[in-house]
Amino acid sequence: MKISAQVKAGTYPDLLKNKVLATLFFEPSTRTRLSFEAAISLSGGNYIGFADAINSSVKKGETLKDTIKTITGYCHAIVIRHPYEGAARVAAEVSKVPVINAGDGSNQHPTQTLLDLFTINEKFGKIDGLNIGLFGDLKYGRTVHSLSMALAYYNVNLYLISPELLQMPSYYKQHLKQSGVPFFEHETLNEIGKKLDILYVTRLQRERFGDPLEYEKMSGSYRVTEDTLLSLANHTKIMHPLPRVDEITPAVDTYENAIYFEQAHNGIFVR
Ligand code: NCD
Repeated sequence: MKISAQVKAGTYPDLLKNKVLATLFFEPSTRTRLSFEAAISLSGGNYIGFADAINSSVKKGETLKDTIKTITGYCHAIVIRHPYEGAARVAAEVSKVPVINAGDGSNQHPTQTLLDLFTINEKFGKIDGLNIGLFGDLKYGRTVHSLSMALAYYNVNLYLISPELLQMPSYYKQHLKQSGVPFFEHETLNEIGKKLDILYVTRLQRERFGDPLEYEKMSGSYRVTEDTLLSLANHTKIMHPLPRVDEITPAVDTYENAIYFEQAHNGIFVR
């Protein structure tokens, strides 16, 4: 909160002077990488790294461990995004500096969750007591995996809304159960849209489908359009980690409760 007020006022905190952050992106990124790089720049530090592993020695066959063992000597912290689940953990095992997971396969995306929680708290002044719907590809979407785990620390009702083939994996449902979070599964928004304080939409994670036919089958299987707004409450905020493909029609962007671009901007403060 304090940092966001400072940044909004144009007085940047010089917290990270003479610090170097390595941003290692083995997978595409716009918001996560650029907001990390903007955040360290605004805090007085510098960054090194790559946005595409094709330009690194990985292309020559270097292992992840060797890459990390080298880069750990050039920086004060590492941010890594990688297509393999567990890659950040492997990196942390061999790194001498802290490692931040910026997304590992379909597993986790914890810094997205921090900015999601920040956004919810800014909008509602609280997280407890809210009815939150996670909608879309809950099977492969790492943002909703991390978000559901974090929301388990709060008193919320969770609605897991997805086509049957894209349901939240049982591991996460088990975690919710053990944490005592009431959660309800639905295939469409129809029955519960009006109850929701937040509708958190995710993209169909095309790159995670092993079988292109399975992807084709699910393509277009859920969508938020202007008509969908009628099945939501007047105050339901629509969130999305972005990028959006076709799951939210652009006409929805002008709706005052569509807050996904604001959500993306909060990445600067949190990161
Ligand atoms: C998300 C991701 O990388 O998992 N993007 C992001 O970081 N904002 C969501 C997605 O790619 O669908």
